[in-house]
Amino acid sequence: MCGIVAALAARNVQGILLEGLRRLEYRGYDSAGVAVLNAAGQLERQRAVGKVAALEAALGQHGLPGHVGIAHTRWATHGKPSEANAHPHRGGHALAIVHNGIIENFEPLKRELEADGVIFESETDTEVVAHLLDRAFLEQGDLLTAVQATLAQIDGAYALAVMHAGAPREIVGARKGSPLVVGVGIDESFIASDALALLQVTDRFIYLEEGDVVRLSDARGIEVFDADGQSATREVHTYVHGDGAASRGDYRHFMLKEIFEQPAVIAATLEGRLGAGRVLEASFGAEAKARFAKVKQIHIVACGTSYHAGLVARYWLEKLAGLPTQVEVASEYRYRDVVVPPDTLFVTLSQSGETADTLAALRYAKTLNYLGALAICNVPGSSLTRESDLSLMTQAGPEIGVASTKAFTTQLVALLLLTLSLRPERGDDREAALVQALRGLPAVLERALEMDAPIAALSEAFAEKHHALFLGRGTQFPIALEGALKLKEISYIHAEAYPAGELKHGPLALVDADMPVVAVAPNDELLEKLKSNLQEVRARGGELFVFADAGVALQAADNLRVLHVPPIDEILAPILYTLPLQLLSYHVAVLKGTDVDQPRNLAKSVTVE
Ligand code: F6R
Repeated sequence: MCGIVAALAARNVQGILLEGLRRLEYRGYDSAGVAVLNAAGQLERQRAVGKVAALEAALGQHGLPGHVGIAHTRWATHGKPSEANAHPHRGGHALAIVHNGIIENFEPLKRELEADGVIFESETDTEVVAHLLDRAFLEQGDLLTAVQATLAQIDGAYALAVMHAGAPREIVGARKGSPLVVGVGIDESFIASDALALLQVTDRFIYLEEGDVVRLSDARGIEVFDADGQSATREVHTYVHGDGAASRGDYRHFMLKEIFEQPAVIAATLEGRLGAGRVLEASFGAEAKARFAKVKQIHIVACGTSYHAGLVARYWLEKLAGLPTQVEVASEYRYRDVVVPPDTLFVTLSQSGETADTLAALRYAKTLNYLGALAICNVPGSSLTRESDLSLMTQAGPEIGVASTKAFTTQLVALLLLTLSLRPERGDDREAALVQALRGLPAVLERALEMDAPIAALSEAFAEKHHALFLGRGTQFPIALEGALKLKEISYIHAEAYPAGELKHGPLALVDADMPVVAVAPNDELLEKLKSNLQEVRARGGELFVFADAGVALQAADNLRVLHVPPIDEILAPILYTLPLQLLSYHVAVLKGTDVDQPRNLAKSVTVE
């Protein structure tokens, strides 16, 4: 989604702004722009449709030097991708603003401004804010007060940064419903929608809270004001993941790097959370033990890949902890009249912690009679973790590829920790065995990654296809769903997933030589049933690709290709079998020449409804 970078420094900030935009490219966008106050104190702006490289080309050799500047990558919501709709937007000739989110009451405000003679250059909701701000600045003569007065007039979600030629050594930022961080430098300061954008200049960040307004100025440094306009103190956090996460290293794509990082980030997610033979439930927060003891049911809500992690967890929570569990996509949950049985724990799953539908679902859930809200999330300081009673952070580190990989498997690990923490028979042999298996998981995943070359060879059979079917049973059904989602997202091949037992109730009609069928077949209690389902496919001339446990007696034959996956405890199998499916979609996409890390039409963190 949209990205914001802003800088106030004694040095020329153009390079910092452009590098920040490049670092935000992964979020998905369609145009980019930058504005600075030049040496003469005048506002200058350049915008371009397409990638940041197109903006750099438009800037030319001379560029836009300046010591104060704001920049943006836009993902169109109001108005098509065009130079006129790209940010920064101007209010008059002296004010520039960049904005993420949506201003819900922009239409009546726009009508009022037009009636007063304001001429709009764009179709965006943001430009309305630009003109309101410009007026407020003329009245108040102070940028901070102008921003506070304008925010009082607008409804919706925003993160924004504003500068004005009349306040030449200041930038004001604000957040409500969309993330914004302040980068703390030495005698310089920055604002961005994601800390990653600023790691080239600082590793110290303030994560703004809902309703905060921040002023960066030479005169007073960084000042934060809360939603009531009162001066507020916000902690400065040091970013611990290092800057390496933002670079591809020797990998051709971020997605491949992130697939290969999984053993390490799963080890990091487990670190400090396993005791001798048991999960340490304090990992979920000091209050977790008391709350967990009361839980009788679970509701899990998430979107996309995170939703698939929830579907796996349902099998675990029911089988291992005996807890009735519902899993639902957030965009449906938030508009349902949800009935909450007594002692139900509400759980959200989100890589970013800023997904608009998931956040809205949490806010709705908080009005209902839940025992409490737990967030499993990958981004420290995100809205979801701040607004939940309990949280568990996955330690996947920044995920840059738009298609989620390591965030998903670390969520699965966190959900298994949750399941074990909720079992009535805490500390028994079953828990000890699973804790032992979890400790060994990173090594098994390393071995699964050795399948990379054979999977790359296998992917050739998919490159010319237009459709694919994924099958699994039990916990492998959500893994099949996730495999199909990955293939769709990055290779644009239409893929569907079914519980294998459902094949004969309809989808079997699709099976022919042009429809590759992928099946995940660990050595579990449903294996024999799955094998019968695979025979149904073979009997219809379908081409089968099976990822199977080495101990499964399945002989490769015409139209049946088998790739062996290392043996593993049946409970952990969904985590392991995810990896070959990720690799398959990756290699198919590479063969098809698509933009693997930034697939068309998609954005990393979906902060609009
Ligand atoms: C798919 C993918 C998306 C996200 C979804 C939720 O590869 O990445 O489906 O999983 O947009 O995002 P988070 O987990 O950030 O809430």
